[in-house]
Amino acid sequence: MDLPVIPTPLLPRWVWMEEVTYSHIPIATLVTAFLFLAPIFEYIGYRRKDMRYDRLAKSLVFFSMILFSPGAALGTGIPMFIIGLYPEFWSRWANIFFWPLIAQFVFFTLEVVVLFFGYYLTWDRWMNRKRLHILFGVLSALTGMSIQIIWDGIGSYMMTPGAPLPGVNEPVGWSAQGFFNPSFPYLFTHRFFANISYTMLLAGGVFALKYLHAKVKEEKNYFAFAADITFSIGFLAFFAMPFIGWGYAKILQHNAPVAFHAIMGGHSGSKFIFKMAMVSVFLTIAAVYLFIRHRDKPVILSFATAGLASLYLFLSWHPALDWFGSTATWRIAYTIVLVGFIAFLWVIRKTDKQVTSEPWQWAMFIAGIAAFLAFAMGGFVRERARQPHTVYKQIIKPEVLPREADEFLVYDKCVVCHSTPKFLDRYKKRDWVERVKVERERPGVDITDDEVEHIIRYLRERYP
Ligand code: HEC
Repeated sequence: MDLPVIPTPLLPRWVWMEEVTYSHIPIATLVTAFLFLAPIFEYIGYRRKDMRYDRLAKSLVFFSMILFSPGAALGTGIPMFIIGLYPEFWSRWANIFFWPLIAQFVFFTLEVVVLFFGYYLTWDRWMNRKRLHILFGVLSALTGMSIQIIWDGIGSYMMTPGAPLPGVNEPVGWSAQGFFNPSFPYLFTHRFFANISYTMLLAGGVFALKYLHAKVKEEKNYFAFAADITFSIGFLAFFAMPFIGWGYAKILQHNAPVAFHAIMGGHSGSKFIFKMAMVSVFLTIAAVYLFIRHRDKPVILSFATAGLASLYLFLSWHPALDWFGSTATWRIAYTIVLVGFIAFLWVIRKTDKQVTSEPWQWAMFIAGIAAFLAFAMGGFVRERARQPHTVYKQIIKPEVLPREADEFLVYDKCVVCHSTPKFLDRYKKRDWVERVKVERERPGVDITDDEVEHIIRYLRERYP
C-alpha cells in the first residue's frame, strides 16, 4: 500500500509520536483514576459524616476538571499525528475498530455531560442531596472507565492481534476477536491498578508537600489526612501488579514472543530494569511509611504482609537475573534483601508514629515521582518491545531500519527456542554461517534462504 508518508522536519518520526502520546496519556489516566475514586471518597465521607473525605473527593474532581480540556486537546493531536506519519496503519486499524472508536466518542461526550453538569457544577448545590450527587459521580466514573476499556481493547490489539489487520479497501468496522484479543484483559487490569497506584502515590507526595507549606493548623491536619490516605491506597493498590504482570508476561510469551524476549533481557530490557528500579524505590519508601504510620492496624498490616509474601513468591518464580550468575545466588540475594528489610522494620518498630518531619514529606514526594516514572517507562517498554511493528507481525512501520527488521527476525526464528537473547552473546565461537546452517536443519524450524542471509548479517554485526 503506497499511502503518502509525511516526513518529519527534525527528530525521528517515533519521537514525535511518542511525545504527543506522552502529553495525553498521563492526563487521561490521572483523570480516569481520580474520577473512579472520587465518588468512593465522597460516599465514605457521607456515611461517616466526615467532611475531610468530601473535601478530598471534591479536590480530585476539581483537579480533573482543570486537566480535562488540555487532556482532550492533546488527545486530538494523536490521530492527527498517526494519520500523517503512519497513514497505512491508521487506515487499517481505524477500519477494523471503527465502531469502538465511535463508541468511545459517545462515552466521551456522555462523560462531559454527567461530569460537568451532574457532578462538578452541583457539588455545593446538592450538599443535601448527596445520594443523587454520588450517583452522578458513579456515572462519570463509569463513562471514564468505558473509554479506558475501549482504548485498552484496541491498544492491546497492537501487541497481540487476535484477528488479522484488514486491508485499506476492506470495510470491517468491528472485530470481536480483534477487540477481545489475548492480552486485552491483562492490559486493562494492569492499567487499572497501575493508574490507581501511581496517581495516588503521586497525589500523596503532593499533599505531603502541601502539608509542609500549610500555615494554619486545620489546613495542616487536612493535608496530613489527605497525604496519608492517598499514599496508603497507592501502595496497597500496587500489590495486584506482580500477579497481573506475571499473567501478562505469560500471555506475551505465548502470543508475542519477540516482544516478550525484547523485554526479558533483550533490547527493551534496560528500560524494563529502569522501570523495576523505580518500582523498588517507591515500594521501599511506601512500605516503611505504612509500617511506621499504621503498624497497629491489623487490616493494613496483614495486607502488607500478604504483599510481601506475594513479592517473595514472584521472585522465586522468576528465573535468576544474569548478574547473579546461578539460581542459588539469585535466591540467596533476594532472600537476604527481604529478610534484611523485615529486620530493619523490626529495629524501627518503636519509632514515633508521626511521619510529620520534613524529610518524610520529601521522601513521599520522591516516591510519587518514582511511581510516575515507573508508569511512564512501562508504556515505553511495551511500545518499544514490538518494534519495528506497529501491529505485531501485521504491519511494519514505514521508517524501519534494516537492522531492526533483522533483529526481529533473529528473535522470531532463533531466540524463541533458546529462552533468552543472551545465549547469543555467550556463544564465543561466532561461526555464524555454519551455526545458522546447523540450526535451520533442526526439526520444525522453517527459515528461508533469504532469511538466512538477514540473520547472518545481523549476527555478524551484533556479535562480531
Ligand atoms: C527448534 C529450536 C531451535 C531453534 C529455532 C534454534 N535453535 Fe539454536 N539450538 C537449539 C538446540 C536444541 C541446541 C543444542 C543445545 C544447546 O546447545 O543449547 C541449539 C544450539 C545453539 C547454539 C550453540 C549454543 C552453545 O552454547 O553451544 C547456538 C549458538 C544456536 N543454537 C544459535 C541459534 C540461532 C542463531 C538460531 C536461529 C537461526 C537458532 N539457534 C535456532 C534449538 C534451536
